[in-house]
Amino acid sequence: MLADLDRSTMQKAYARWAPVYDALCGPVFLNARRHAVAAARKAGPRILEVGVGTGLSFGDYDERFEVTGIDLSEPMIARARERAGGGRFPHVKALEVMDAHRLGFGDASFDAVVAQFVITLVEDPERVMDECARVLAPGGEIILVNHFYSERGLAAKLEDGLARHARPLGLRPEFRFGRLEAWAEARGDIELVERRKLPPLRAFTLARFRKRAS
Ligand SMILES: C[S@@+](CC[C@H](N)C(=O)[O-])C[C@H]1O[C@@H](n2cnc3c(N)ncnc32)[C@H](O)[C@@H]1O
Repeated sequence: MLADLDRSTMQKAYARWAPVYDALCGPVFLNARRHAVAAARKAGPRILEVGVGTGLSFGDYDERFEVTGIDLSEPMIARARERAGGGRFPHVKALEVMDAHRLGFGDASFDAVVAQFVITLVEDPERVMDECARVLAPGGEIILVNHFYSERGLAAKLEDGLARHARPLGLRPEFRFGRLEAWAEARGDIELVERRKLPPLRAFTLARFRKRAS
């Protein structure tokens, strides 16, 4: 059986990614990231970025927002702190090393929880979604952008085959969106309000889950 992702694999993977992350992933994820922030700005002003990485989104928010970022990886957060250094982004209020499975915030602390390219690689995605929902105020939104893998056909078979090789890179290429739909359905207080493939290549999906107001 294929070993699943865990905390230590992730920390090792992102210690390797940190020095090259902006150069390799910055341009690839730029458009999707902007769509996520546009959605978060509508839900704001108190934003939590889970798996904030090196803070590539900071410039897309402004002083009307209060952005908190957390990440499991110390080297990634160190880069985010460097980016925010010198008061360049006064709306970035806090950057903490923290595991998304155990968020150190009170219930209903944020209006939007953003997770960009994170949910498919955490050890227990449903638990992370539960934590995101817990810290979200009623009426607030969890906003995800990600590549979600094919549900069926040859592409699905290929992605399943790649899983073994992708683990050391901290990837889980067999993750399907249906898993998140099942999570929302099981909870009852969360609804999927938007799911759309993003231009230009439709490789990434934006998904918005809203916490019911009552
Ligand atoms: C692909 S990067 C995305 C970074 C950033 N969101 C972006 O779009 O550039 C995934 C990030 O999730 C973080 N991560 C993985 N597992 C995590 C966890 N359990 N708790 C918090 N962050 C986690 C990684 O350390 C990494 O920085």
